[in-house]
Amino acid sequence: MLKVEEQQPVEFSAALIEKFDEIISRYPQGKHKSALLPMLHETQAELGWLSTSAMDKVAAHLDILPIEVYEVASFYSMYFLRPQGKYVLEVCRTGPCCLVGAEKIMNHIEQSLGVKEGEVTPDGLFSWRGVECLAACGYGPVLQIGPEYTFYENLDAQKVDELIQDLRKK
Ligand code: FES
Repeated sequence: MLKVEEQQPVEFSAALIEKFDEIISRYPQGKHKSALLPMLHETQAELGWLSTSAMDKVAAHLDILPIEVYEVASFYSMYFLRPQGKYVLEVCRTGPCCLVGAEKIMNHIEQSLGVKEGEVTPDGLFSWRGVECLAACGYGPVLQIGPEYTFYENLDAQKVDELIQDLRKK
């Protein structure tokens, strides 16, 4: 069932609509669906996440079915289907990183931030989640921090605490 916030209508800025049109113009006529991924990136950059209402508006702009947008947005982990913190800590939870302590890092983040995976801290600053391989398997545990996706390797609890403190000071 949809949450209330997911059912609320959204408005796109004029700048976002203009960006949509510029993105669509990059593709040959009849191939406009290829604009979907970058349009979702731009939508998420403006709104912070992709609500059902936002995805419906993207579908309408591209003249495709909403389900075609849901399928893409729910497939790629870089799209957020619920509200996120200003900073999103994404910890690799694939085998090689788990062998060197990724689960401990996730448990530590949960304790430090006081929220479970996918939840947002009360101050709106942080959320966190486990993700699949971040392609730095020899340097685990690793995490990346969105929205800029800065990357950190060879983590331990102390390094994670320092990262969180630095972000709090920003
Ligand atoms: Fe963690 Fe590849 S398994 S980066």
